[in-house]
Amino acid sequence: MTGFSADWLALREPFDRAARSASAALLDLQAAAVRLRDDPVLRVIDLGCGTGANLRELAPRLGGAQQWLMIDDDPHLLAALPEALEAPGWHASVRPLPLDLALALAAVPYLEARLVTASALLDLVSASWLDALLAHVRAANAAALFALNVDGRVAWEPGLAGDVEVHELFAAHQRRDKGFGPALGAEAAALAVARLDALGYRVTQAQSDWCIEEPAMLRAMIEGMADAALEQDPAAEERVGAWTARRLELVDRTCLRVGHVDLLAMP
Ligand SMILES: C[S@@+](CC[C@H](N)C(=O)[O-])C[C@H]1O[C@@H](n2cnc3c(N)ncnc32)[C@H](O)[C@@H]1O
Repeated sequence: MTGFSADWLALREPFDRAARSASAALLDLQAAAVRLRDDPVLRVIDLGCGTGANLRELAPRLGGAQQWLMIDDDPHLLAALPEALEAPGWHASVRPLPLDLALALAAVPYLEARLVTASALLDLVSASWLDALLAHVRAANAAALFALNVDGRVAWEPGLAGDVEVHELFAAHQRRDKGFGPALGAEAAALAVARLDALGYRVTQAQSDWCIEEPAMLRAMIEGMADAALEQDPAAEERVGAWTARRLELVDRTCLRVGHVDLLAMP
């Protein structure tokens, strides 16, 4: 669950969708799209697009004619993108751009877009990378929409001994460098809000929490958290192993809430 395989992205997509349907009303994306559409087409750049979950989520909500530039450094994920998507009321053309955003952030053609978006990306990046991105977005006078930013809230029902320790190790692992410098992890959303505010953006925030009761997703979360916790502190093997075994026994009667926040920043 800490990697970006197409399988993991497919497993999480229904939970992302449910979470974002909760935040969408507050963000009023249709009104934002009306303001950002300065010609018949709304131009969007999606950073760290994976297989296109953010496109599939946003395109119907934004409506009308859209052009999406989809950026990722993984060619296998980009290969899964459609050439276009459409349904009554909207049409999105899709152009993939393979680019390592950690190395070549300045190569993104910001001036081609009125909306720069990313989902489930900001926890991976560093404060200095985020500052550089926001400076480019501001210079292009584009809006920004950052969805599914983990905010550190994790609640298991039922709770178990070991939840807090595993979560703390997992959170420390989340802050490891993912290629962008020391990762912001759960601090990313708050920092992005502060920086966007200072740049003069009007920022709207809405919670987009995962509520997970489905056993396959719970297993992936438990195993992913345990792997990360053990990588962070191999000496915790016995306790993390006991926690994992007990958690896996309970998947049929567990509810896990993972806190996320979505941010819409209008220039
Ligand atoms: C958690 S996934 C989110 C994918 C997609 N936005 C979604 O919501 O399903 C993070 C994405 O960032 C991409 N990524 C990670 N590091 C990158 C880099 N240095 N340059 C470009 N993309 C990167 C990964 O390949 C992956 O597709």
